[in-house]
Amino acid sequence: MSDPPRADGGYRAIVIGSGMAGLFAALEASALGPVLLVTKAELQEGSTLHAQGGIAAAIGPDDSPEQHLADTIAAGAGLVDEAMARVLVESAAQRIRDLEQYGVDFDSEGAGPAFGREGAHRNARVLHARGDRTGAAITAALAERVESGRVTVRQHTLATEILLEGSTTAGLRALDLESGAEVVFEAPAVVLATGGAGAAFSHTTNPPVATGDGIALAFAAGAEVTDLEFYQFHPTAFRQAGAPPFLISEALRGEGAVLRDEHGRTFMGRYHPLADLAPRDVVARAMVAEMQAAHADQVWLDCTALNGVDPTERFPGIAAFCRDHGIDLRHDPVPVAPAAHYLMGGVRTDEWGRTTVPGLYACGESAATGVHGANRLASNSLLETVVFAKRAVEHLASGAGGAMAPCAASTPFAPAGGAPPDHATVQRLLWRRAGIERSGEELAGGLAAVRAWPAAAREPSRESHERCWLAVFAELLLTAALTREESRGAHFRTDFPERDDNRWQRRLVYRRAG
Ligand code: FAD
Ligand code: SIN
Repeated sequence: MSDPPRADGGYRAIVIGSGMAGLFAALEASALGPVLLVTKAELQEGSTLHAQGGIAAAIGPDDSPEQHLADTIAAGAGLVDEAMARVLVESAAQRIRDLEQYGVDFDSEGAGPAFGREGAHRNARVLHARGDRTGAAITAALAERVESGRVTVRQHTLATEILLEGSTTAGLRALDLESGAEVVFEAPAVVLATGGAGAAFSHTTNPPVATGDGIALAFAAGAEVTDLEFYQFHPTAFRQAGAPPFLISEALRGEGAVLRDEHGRTFMGRYHPLADLAPRDVVARAMVAEMQAAHADQVWLDCTALNGVDPTERFPGIAAFCRDHGIDLRHDPVPVAPAAHYLMGGVRTDEWGRTTVPGLYACGESAATGVHGANRLASNSLLETVVFAKRAVEHLASGAGGAMAPCAASTPFAPAGGAPPDHATVQRLLWRRAGIERSGEELAGGLAAVRAWPAAAREPSRESHERCWLAVFAELLLTAALTREESRGAHFRTDFPERDDNRWQRRLVYRRAG
């Protein structure tokens, strides 16, 4: 028998993940004592790195947190937690100042910040950096501070288990992906910042690290998870055979770009009064209808006549990507189709980022704070990462401890425990059965397939662990989507196409059985 792994202790907190939520949490927590940051790939890899449009903050002269709140609530289709969303919008100005102090240089116009516009925002209120390279600019600034500061960083280290003493967080088990050795870290607090799960779908804007690990890890530790049926599909991902996942920012439509069909005709005006700036779920479904009618794999985004903006200057990252794929944004339409983009659900948290497990916090896309309801307002997620990372650290500093009160109406859930033969199997299954349009029949078929996957031994590899976590995520998502017999926000059921507030104006919460 091999020796048990040596424990590395003495940390005030362990942060899992190095996107915006993890980097910010680690920086803030490092004022409290030694902090360990573990991340499974390179320090800067994560969805944050690829964020384009920007970060919403109602700090412009004609804007207010109250208006931002109203837009957030409207987008969330009846399920936004208003108190949490108020915390989000009212903290925005301070968190933007924090980011600037950490070295993020937002683009400016005149004496103030430049504000972009995105769908379902009544005002232009989206701050951006380096044009459409907002995420890269933020990640670079925060990562530089982390690397030059007091945070201990372990890259290529996969968190594999939240360790508990009784039912309280005591540390983390992890796999050193370079040596293959198991490692144990001790700390009274663990901050989960593992991001979303877009890589669970065939078509996605997310990087490969987005496999929903945090949801499976927290669920196994006894935390409640919620809102997993609400997966946002971004209307405009680049779609060309052989091209890697790449987002074509909604901010382009905010500047006047329009969607066109195979014959060059605009079509969004037929689907919604806001036309190309309608909510994302409406645009995505309209595109699916047009694509099906034309037997096409894509529609076209025409960026040739923006509102006095040169697309190559305002969107240098998108222009460069398109150029590499033979498209000149100033003259050619861009082939686009919807793709999995953002998980509204995740590990259930309160206003201090606490989960229902003492000592376990969650923030960023892995958390379900309730601020997005059934559909996220564009550019609210970067804001959410820093607002709730900050509050989690404030709570840690207070020493108040405790945990979020459990939900009285949670459903006990025992995952079947199998794993798909490979990653592509789960991607195809979720894209087909739990994609933009769902039906009871497809969801039930998907669930039966997941439950039939055979048990798989956990190998000491990232791929093996991710397959097991993806199975848990897929089973939870399919179960929640099958249970919710209505259409709301990002969740659209062809067999229940209407919103049904009488039965379903409530969140579905799951906890581990037993
Ligand atoms: P991430 O940035 O995804 O980071 C997760 C981290 O966790 C990674 O470092 C990953 O390696 C690590 N990790 C995961 N599992 C493990 C494990 N088991 N062990 C160790 N480490 C682990 N939102 C906006 O508000 N505005 C935008 O303009 C915008 N544009 C976007 C564009 C794209 C292409 C995408 C994909 C998303 C965009 N979003 C945008 C959404 C937003 O970027 C994300 O919601 C946000 O960045 C998530 O940050 P995060 O820190 O929670 O997760
Ligand atoms: C985009 O730039 O279109 C993405 C913004 C977001 O997802 O918030």
